[in-house]
Amino acid sequence: MERVISGIRPTGNLHLGNYFGAVKSFVKMQDEYNCMFFIADWHSLTTHPKPENIRQSARTILAEYLACGIDPQKAPIYIQSDVKQVLELYLYFNMNAYLGELERVTSFKEKVRKQPDNVNAGLLTYPTLMAADILMHKADKVPVGKDQEQNMEMARLFARRFNRIYDVEYFKEPESFHYTAEAVKVPGLDGSGKMGKSEGNCIYLCDDEATIKKKVMRAVTDAGPTMLNQEKPEPIRNLFTLLELVSGPEAYDYYNDLYNNMQIRYGDLKKQLARDINAFCAPIREKILAYSADEQYMQQVAREGAERARESADKTLREVREIIGFRSL
Ligand code: ADP
Ligand code: TRP
Repeated sequence: MERVISGIRPTGNLHLGNYFGAVKSFVKMQDEYNCMFFIADWHSLTTHPKPENIRQSARTILAEYLACGIDPQKAPIYIQSDVKQVLELYLYFNMNAYLGELERVTSFKEKVRKQPDNVNAGLLTYPTLMAADILMHKADKVPVGKDQEQNMEMARLFARRFNRIYDVEYFKEPESFHYTAEAVKVPGLDGSGKMGKSEGNCIYLCDDEATIKKKVMRAVTDAGPTMLNQEKPEPIRNLFTLLELVSGPEAYDYYNDLYNNMQIRYGDLKKQLARDINAFCAPIREKILAYSADEQYMQQVAREGAERARESADKTLREVREIIGFRSL
């Protein structure tokens, strides 16, 4: 059966972008593939979180993964830092990764712009650690959002390069995967760009009804269409994208017709959107609270997940050491 791996950095609560871009695919894939999901806490060190937040953030994401419907019986969940084998593979990949190519990665260049005082080597080698996460389990498919495409290309590059250097057919090239025909990019409600934690424009799965309503009602709109069948400007297109994701195609068509006939009232559309987002989040919200309160179960899930991940990682590392030339003396 094909293998699937994916992870998310624990840097805050999961938002609708994370859900529709990644976690929804995790939940669907667990029935069809040999899946493992993890919490990328080492990756989160690139932005220097406080020690007291590290475990807490990992717990938060674990409760949220479970609340979204990942079933650890079908798909083990582990915390990246519980599987130290990944670091060894990271080291090997770093030996074959070149400064120039790492510096050209868009997300690295963005970080250089955003945090010029903290351009650390971990940021530069983010793609090699990610490649180690994936190739450690010889994954075939990796469910991630569109913004991870370049990191996926790097993972394929490191796999190919390893095979070429050692003249083996060892690592397969992993492909990114999404259930929809195209990768989803969930927009923010502030008129442009994507929903993202650092953008400060997120609706979180744990937001309560009043918060959701406030956020949606404040979404950027314009004065309305001035011509029949007018093309939508970005802020309006964004609202429609969210509507299609959360409310479904019928609601989309309904408001789309009103827009095309110049009869749309954005207030109505927003009210429906807020209602539907709340209906979607409410059951997840309740489960997040329930799992968060069950310390024992969470620990058990993380422990069992780490055991499974270590088994798979040990096997890969044994083989990789052999290929590289670390044989017993
Ligand atoms: P953030 O941008 O909020 O920091 P992450 O970068 O931690 O989120 O993303 C975790 C996962 O969620 C990745 O697979 C990413 O592709 C996906 N993701 C994040 N935001 C979006 C979005 N707005 N649309 C689609 N997928 C997203
Ligand atoms: N880079 C991913 C993100 O920001 C997180 C991640 C780390 C990941 N390692 C991974 C995703 C391996 C998939 C596979 O969301």
